[in-house]
Amino acid sequence: QIQFPDPPQEFNTRPSKAGQRSLSPSTSQSSTESHTSGKEACSHGSDEASPREQQQAASSGFSDFCVKNIKQAHLGRREIEIAEQDMAALMFLRTRAGAEKPLAGAKVMGCTHITAQTAVLIETLSVLGAQCRWAACNIFSTQNAVAAALAEAGTAVFAWRGQTEDDFWWCIEKCVGAEIWQPNMVLDDGGDLTHWIHEKHPSLFQTLKGIVEESLTGIHRLYQLSKAGKLCLPAFNVNDCVTKQKFDSLYCCKESVLSGLKRTTDVMFGGKQVLVCGYGEVGKGCCAALKAVGAVVYVTEADPICALQACMDGFRVVRMEEVAAQVDVVITCTGNKNVVVRKHLDRMKNGCIVCNMGHSNTEIDLASLRTAELRWERVRSHVDHVIWPDGKRILLLAEGRLLNLSCSTVPSIVLSITTTTQALALMELYSAPEGRYKQDIYLLPKKTDEFVAALHLPTFDAHLTELSEEQARYLGVSKTGPFKPHHYRY
Ligand SMILES: NC(=O)c1ccc[n+]([C@@H]2O[C@H](COP(=O)([O-])OP(=O)(O)OC[C@H]3O[C@@H](n4cnc5c(N)ncnc54)[C@H](O)[C@@H]3O)[C@@H](O)[C@H]2O)c1
Repeated sequence: QIQFPDPPQEFNTRPSKAGQRSLSPSTSQSSTESHTSGKEACSHGSDEASPREQQQAASSGFSDFCVKNIKQAHLGRREIEIAEQDMAALMFLRTRAGAEKPLAGAKVMGCTHITAQTAVLIETLSVLGAQCRWAACNIFSTQNAVAAALAEAGTAVFAWRGQTEDDFWWCIEKCVGAEIWQPNMVLDDGGDLTHWIHEKHPSLFQTLKGIVEESLTGIHRLYQLSKAGKLCLPAFNVNDCVTKQKFDSLYCCKESVLSGLKRTTDVMFGGKQVLVCGYGEVGKGCCAALKAVGAVVYVTEADPICALQACMDGFRVVRMEEVAAQVDVVITCTGNKNVVVRKHLDRMKNGCIVCNMGHSNTEIDLASLRTAELRWERVRSHVDHVIWPDGKRILLLAEGRLLNLSCSTVPSIVLSITTTTQALALMELYSAPEGRYKQDIYLLPKKTDEFVAALHLPTFDAHLTELSEEQARYLGVSKTGPFKPHHYRY
């Protein structure tokens, strides 16, 4: 196990220089989902030459990269500096472990969203001693200026916004760089890099120490490999860390559902009747936010435990049919398919807003809305009117894709939790003695989760209570944690 240093007592709690959080897409989507809200310092016309056809070099002469425009580096550097302000845990790792270089000798291939927040991670890994090569896990999410800043500072990065499918795999191949170096670690988000290595460079699997995977999709793919007996190295599942789950699902959605709704509709939600489908982590966050602004919230649930939780939290649990005709907003958060179907949509009233916070765009039966008798009118970006023959209009947001990721942003602190966990997972895998981890998929030790949380407490000037020896013995835990058994539900 890595010896974690004590969390700092004092963090930099200053507001960011720009007085605002940087706008970036989440790190938790796979390449198939598009992002449209990431902030771009500069955009280029699609008629320009592909970055693959350009010869570019950093001011140092370094040229092992492929980005849109290296001249945007100074703009990207500002974005990274803003993100650093809200990612105190990674900055702490730099100052506390930077001198020890726990990742000295680590050669990390990374495939994640390339945003200001992931740039902070990549540069932290370098400070900790790792060499990095990076590609984007999504063809739309790269912040071009940030990629330029990484390249200018010497990171071998291969990414730009608006890649073709062919570009995407070309960049992954460049990131692997089999003829240039001997990589020994993988950090993946969505499993595309792992898949590519498995298909095109299987011999690398023999020399890699392990994989750290970020997303649900990637974990799925790893389990498939494992089932087929083809996973010949250990992998860490970051997706299921408690901190990541809670912050991505509950706390992040609690804030971003309102942001997504406001940015698209400008509607006031006080007094509005809202139906939230699913009372899991995401549903709980959405309900809490809407209740807080005075909306009247109804919930649909299939699971009696979650339904009872919704009752206890003061929400009416109903069937869709009971309220479809009266509600002003419908939000799906089930992760299921065909939760809102045509018969529900037919009953909804004029002006009803329909959107989805679940992973895929299967929750609302869109195909049933693409019929000859219904007219679609684009109102503004991410807002469509679907118009019935009698003039009734439904406001469909983001064409049924995740509302918050399509129309809003993910705050740096949420990404700070994820990226700090990724950094610790890489350190644990890299430094683990031979044989500690087998050819399997592992959850991070609870202590790591607790450590990541502890690293973020000073941001809020939160002071933990220290258990006495007697209290710790009474509870049957160690004074320094872990404080809960693995099965504990937070
Ligand atoms: N928007 C985001 O930023 C974000 C973040 C995290 C997760 N997600 C996605 O949101 C979805 C929900 O995630 P979660 O963590 O809340 O999952 P969860 O499993 O905790 O909750 C989903 C709930 O929906 C209920 N449900 C399933 N089918 C239903 C139906 N037909 N009608 C009513 N209720 C139904 C389930 O019983 C469950 O309680 C997933 O697709 C997840 O990938 C989105």
